[in-house]
Amino acid sequence: MHQKINSLKNKNILICVTGSIAAYKTCEIIRILKKQGSNVKVMMTKSAEKFVGKSTFAALSNNEVITDLFPDTPKAGLEHIELSFELDLVLVMPATANILSKVANGIADDVVSTTLCVCEQTTIFAPAMNYKMWQNKSVIESVDKLISMNKRIVNPESGYLASLHEGEGRLANVNTIINEIKDVFKIRLPLKNKNIIITAGPTLEPIDPVRFISNHSSGKMGYAIVDAVCNKGGNVTLLSGPVNLKPHPEANVINIKTASDLLVEFEKMDLKNVDYIFMCAAVVDYTPTKKYDKKIKRDKSSFVIDLKENPDIIKTISEKTNATIIVFALETNDGFINAKNKLKNKNADYVVLNYANKKGQGFNSNTNHVYIFDKNGIEIELRKDRKDRIAEKIVDLVIN
Ligand code: PMT
Repeated sequence: MHQKINSLKNKNILICVTGSIAAYKTCEIIRILKKQGSNVKVMMTKSAEKFVGKSTFAALSNNEVITDLFPDTPKAGLEHIELSFELDLVLVMPATANILSKVANGIADDVVSTTLCVCEQTTIFAPAMNYKMWQNKSVIESVDKLISMNKRIVNPESGYLASLHEGEGRLANVNTIINEIKDVFKIRLPLKNKNIIITAGPTLEPIDPVRFISNHSSGKMGYAIVDAVCNKGGNVTLLSGPVNLKPHPEANVINIKTASDLLVEFEKMDLKNVDYIFMCAAVVDYTPTKKYDKKIKRDKSSFVIDLKENPDIIKTISEKTNATIIVFALETNDGFINAKNKLKNKNADYVVLNYANKKGQGFNSNTNHVYIFDKNGIEIELRKDRKDRIAEKIVDLVIN
């Protein structure tokens, strides 16, 4: 679904990799850009080659990697000059103190610095270096100079550095860099800098090694919410039950099976920094008290499985966060009453009601028909539509 509303499609992006330990993180950016339909070309300095092999970038970008100003088999026009006319954007990632200073001062002594001197396209620098280097006076001056030359800088973050020192110098996170790229292409990002957790799909509660209790959730509704949120710039953690869908390339995916796994993953996170939680997963309410470690034999005419209640996940975590919480309620009868009770009992801010027993709605369908209720008694009906469009409207409503 995310491919259709993608605006990075067919953008020609040059990524210049320079020599920093953070060079491996460029692989993730290339993967995301390629999945969103961008054409990526990588250029590397000699020092960058000490950190990541040329063939890794060639495979990920599905393109030849440029490493030499004077290749053994030169083309008619010098490659870097030719390339500079075809680009929509240049990303220098990771950008060392060396390349920042060279470009700021017009030094062109290798393929990357020479290309950057030629390119007039929007150029984003994502610096990564030791905190002392980042504070070095000449680096500060170079960065100021680059800004005055209309170059964009994605400032490094604070945290532990490769040297094990703590300070500002760590490469900005992937979501921040992708959002900067989207910003260049004027993509609206109302969820920029927001942390969002989304659960999707069913949970599976094992009975024995081959059987389980679950439900019919396909994950389509939750994954559509993930697409809508990622496309608006949100930093998404997707907690996904077993489904057969491809997640949005920008989402950080954590796979879970049982309701307890889901709770464990929530408990590992710092929920204080989360802005929104969308609980779209169909969490199984009861789990077998006993999990057989061998396959149960068919040697009785009847068989009783004893069940115990699973933790109510959202109720448990709602006390630990100030995030806006959106729960989904799947009902077969008395929908309005049950949904409103869930809103209250689970300490949620919104409840999205859908029905399991109406055609084209709820489980596994490509469409849904929902009612949204909030704490102030507002009720909104979103009539039957594709799940991606319903997701878009739910997200817009909640963030506005
Ligand atoms: O995945 P699809 O095939 O696209 O289908 C979408 C959907 C029908 C699964 C989805 O739209 C939906 O309704 N999800 C919630 C299903 C559900 O579990 O509803 P519930 O009424 O049982 O639970 C209410 C809320 O509490 C849910 O947000 C649920 O995630 C949460 N919950 C439930 C049980 C539990 N032990 N802990 C929870 O936190």
